[in-house]
Amino acid sequence: MTPIIKTISDLHKTLEPWRNQSIAFVPTMGNLHAGHVALVQHARTLAHRVVVSIFVNPLQFGPTEDYALYPRTLDQDTQQLTEAGADLLFAPTPQEIYPRGEAGTTTVTVPSLCDILCGATRPRHFTGVATIVTILFNIVQPEVAIFGEKDFQQLLVIRQLVTDLCLPIKIVAYPTVREHDGLAMSSRNSYLSTEERGKAPLLYRTLCRMRDAVVIGATDYERIEETGRNELCAAGFSPEYCVIRRASDLSAPQVGDRHLVALTAARLGRTRLIDNIQVIL
Ligand code: PAJ
Repeated sequence: MTPIIKTISDLHKTLEPWRNQSIAFVPTMGNLHAGHVALVQHARTLAHRVVVSIFVNPLQFGPTEDYALYPRTLDQDTQQLTEAGADLLFAPTPQEIYPRGEAGTTTVTVPSLCDILCGATRPRHFTGVATIVTILFNIVQPEVAIFGEKDFQQLLVIRQLVTDLCLPIKIVAYPTVREHDGLAMSSRNSYLSTEERGKAPLLYRTLCRMRDAVVIGATDYERIEETGRNELCAAGFSPEYCVIRRASDLSAPQVGDRHLVALTAARLGRTRLIDNIQVIL
């Protein structure tokens, strides 16, 4: 069984004898699904030891968001981590991570990337993510950390903070793991009603159509985006954004760019879903 460690000092004691080995780290908020498990299995191939964290980070949830509701399934998660071969699970309390309270803690902000797309509707979200990931990196001190492309903007935020703060950690991206019908796996999929779950894969299909349009040579990105938004609205989604951006920094694409990404965030009923597909020309 993968051991669960709850305090920073116990974690340091356990990691001490592993310091001459390489450590791969997979931070999560738990309620693990096949996407998380794939990250852990990939981590196994990258280092001697695999450390996973489960921490539902209050700092990255807005005041009206689903922090209290977020599914917490530690027993099931531990079972899955054991099967996936994780060496250690770090599952601290908010008090352990933010002893001065969330409002009193030092934060990390990645300016250009924190305010756009998901950051525009979730104002403190990426600062919350960048802060907790920096804290966890400093506690675990891994050689490599694995993040899912499912959260593409988050991945870029992490890459930038590691570069800007000169953290000696290699960031590895892992492709999005999907259900058989294309829906990106997410802990929040469990919020969907049966009817909503039936509609949800349209998010992926819309992104595929946007990608295909770009691949066959369309460059009128605004028109492609508008078609995508209309499709989502017609199916009952409330899109927050449905855009094509440069994959390197999420800025507006220029003709001649060869690595783009189609990204969307949309509400379906009370559930907010995000997805993206990269386009390499
Ligand atoms: P969480 O949503 O639990 O995701 C943990 C990691 O799993 C992230 O790197 C995410 O991109 C990846 N992931 C989620 N769904 C995936 C899927 N379908 N396919 C591949 N990878 C997937 O992201 C967070 O937690 C938090 O913001 C965190 C980074 C832990 C900071 O609190």
